[in-house]
Amino acid sequence: MRGSSDPLPPEAAGGGRREAAPIGGGGGFRDLASCRAELRAAFAEGSDWEVELGFGKGRFLVSSAAAAGSRPFLGVEMASRYFRLAARRAASRRLSNVILLRGEALYLIATLLPAGMARTVHVYFPDPWPKSRHHRRRLLDPRTVDLVLALLDPPRGRLFFATDHLEYGEAVAETLARHPAVEVDRVDDGWPEGPRTNYEAKFEREGRPIVRLAARLRGGGAASLLHPAGRDDLLVGPAPAQEPSASRTSS
Ligand SMILES: C[S@@+](CC[C@H](N)C(=O)[O-])C[C@H]1O[C@@H](n2cnc3c(N)ncnc32)[C@H](O)[C@@H]1O
Repeated sequence: MRGSSDPLPPEAAGGGRREAAPIGGGGGFRDLASCRAELRAAFAEGSDWEVELGFGKGRFLVSSAAAAGSRPFLGVEMASRYFRLAARRAASRRLSNVILLRGEALYLIATLLPAGMARTVHVYFPDPWPKSRHHRRRLLDPRTVDLVLALLDPPRGRLFFATDHLEYGEAVAETLARHPAVEVDRVDDGWPEGPRTNYEAKFEREGRPIVRLAARLRGGGAASLLHPAGRDDLLVGPAPAQEPSASRTSS
């Protein structure tokens, strides 16, 4: 987590084993390889998932899942320490509607999570990577926004975002505002229920300004429209030249 003096363990940095907690907590962790098919089936079942990317200690995810009855929640967190902490919290509350994945969010979206699975995607206080040469590491930016939006079930899908890093917040607001498939609003007075995550509660206490955004897909299910930055990066090279049939037959 940002500001922590603990380096990420190697497997949390995206290179090593990834683990998934079984549905229903249960206490143990399973390797993704052993339950990939089961997870795919669970995710494909409906489009009602609430997904949080980078859930940290899991305050929002666990309390929302506990209050939501049987509605399914999926959390993705890269840092092993926080993943395990949140998994313990979910298990101690005997939540049977939460799945936690430890791994890099964009990797898991691209390889495991089906398009249209989520009613809501939450991204709160993602690492801001303030230096411009590190912007490419940001979880949400013009290159990654389509991957994240693809999780949403059109047209009702919602994306909620918050950060205390104002430059990053404005960059995400602009990315979403420029997106042809999205309408975005600022939530200047805070969420109706108050701060959602540990970081938000801490920053609110400190009186720091926070950018909060609520985005939705435009009616008509325009999720196939791409952000201009992603769209302009997609190129198709020429097909291999076909030899004219005459040259093949001529001697
Ligand atoms: C600053 S903390 C915020 C935690 C929590 N969302 C909150 O608001 O309290 C950012 C969290 O996102 C996680 N994270 C950052 N990049 C990630 C990525 N690409 N995939 C998954 N988790 C990520 C970090 O490990 C960290 O726990």
